[in-house]
Amino acid sequence: MYRKIKGTEDIYGEEIKYWYFIENTAREVSRIYGYEEIRTPIFERTELFVRSVGEETDIVQKEMYTFEDKGGRSLTLRPEGTAPTIRAFVENSMIASGLPRRLFYIGPMFRYERPQSGRQRQFHQFGIELLGSSSPLGDAEAIMLADNFLRKLGLVDYKIVINSIGCEKCRPKYKEALKEYYSNILDKVCDDCKRRYETNILRLLDCKVDSSYAENAPKMKDYLCTECKSHYEETKKLLETLEVAYEENFNLVRGLDYYNGIVFEIHHSRLGAQSAIGGGGRYDKLIEEIGGPKTPSLGFAMGIERLIIALKKENVPVEEWRNNEVFIAHLGHEAKIEAIKIAEELRKNEISVVFNTMERGLSAQLKHAARLKCKLCIIVGENELERDVVILRNLETGDQVEIERTFIVGTAKEWLQD
Ligand code: HAM
Repeated sequence: MYRKIKGTEDIYGEEIKYWYFIENTAREVSRIYGYEEIRTPIFERTELFVRSVGEETDIVQKEMYTFEDKGGRSLTLRPEGTAPTIRAFVENSMIASGLPRRLFYIGPMFRYERPQSGRQRQFHQFGIELLGSSSPLGDAEAIMLADNFLRKLGLVDYKIVINSIGCEKCRPKYKEALKEYYSNILDKVCDDCKRRYETNILRLLDCKVDSSYAENAPKMKDYLCTECKSHYEETKKLLETLEVAYEENFNLVRGLDYYNGIVFEIHHSRLGAQSAIGGGGRYDKLIEEIGGPKTPSLGFAMGIERLIIALKKENVPVEEWRNNEVFIAHLGHEAKIEAIKIAEELRKNEISVVFNTMERGLSAQLKHAARLKCKLCIIVGENELERDVVILRNLETGDQVEIERTFIVGTAKEWLQD
């Protein structure tokens, strides 16, 4: 027997309703905020991710699914959705149709991480990118969108955490201060941090092994230049005006290198170690870096698997996928033909119908209907047909009536609504 690859999931059965619920809500909230969907390929040139996500990040160093295709090109399964989206933005000259451009995406991403609850190797994101806005209005609107999306899902046990990581003007000074601080305790920090000290000093603030050193480290907020500071303050003010609850965490740095200015994450309190249900921030230089025009931008992405865990933890009721409403059983050759016509009539009226396509007796057909959890069963028999009637049975209550052929649709609709 073949088994699925470690860190991947088959999604079916009872789980599907969560996916529909999240995807439908994501599309609806995106529509309301003026976003349009973009679907980019699952794989891109490796270089795109190395350039954008950053050579020294865990994603690029350890987690990418990279392979050579038959033409000798190095390709990578997308580990995130921002780089492909802006590649498409630049390649298709979307700037020509005016800025800002609001794009959203829903789809699978791939990272070779150690699988655990809430962490897979193939996972799914809903993400948005607001391309071409340099104003704090953009940051505030994106964070508000994230908050409204989560509320629309029915979640409450989460918090939005924000920080500013400064810009190319102010961050170098901050990095120096961090280097100095950590140089005195370098023998005490974990091995990963020792390595990152040389390559990516900001990531030391994010150490999962011992956070105590980061607590006493210098804070970016004390090093922000006037522009970054006022952008940060204005965003916070807007969030307050819009009544979006947030917390500040001056040690919040993101795992991707393309950010500057405002960064944020959303954590759910009942998710354990993998508590981030979403994250994002501003990336004003990225589009230029991959060869596009200067286009200050920002965005975020949420992990759909983690949202599902959160919905379950909070016992949020999710509407059942309304399928298999009516089962059509039939007995005899003539009945078969009539039954298929009835099935089509019901389907034209938006009713989900399972028609018996097997050569089997009535009791086996009814058993199958029960297994599919159909609410109603219509039994089409030759005797009844002669009198122009069929039997309608409520499989939940056992109630049964004979109804005239012409009243089938109306009666089925009524019974389904009860
Ligand atoms: P990220 O923080 O790497 O950001 O991922 C966003 C979300 O994807 C995480 O908060 C988490 O919920 C989910 N996620 C990440 N890795 C996994 C995994 N291995 N298994 C399950 N869920 C996971 C980005 O990807 C950025 N592109 C977000 C962004 C968009 N920034 C600007 N625009």
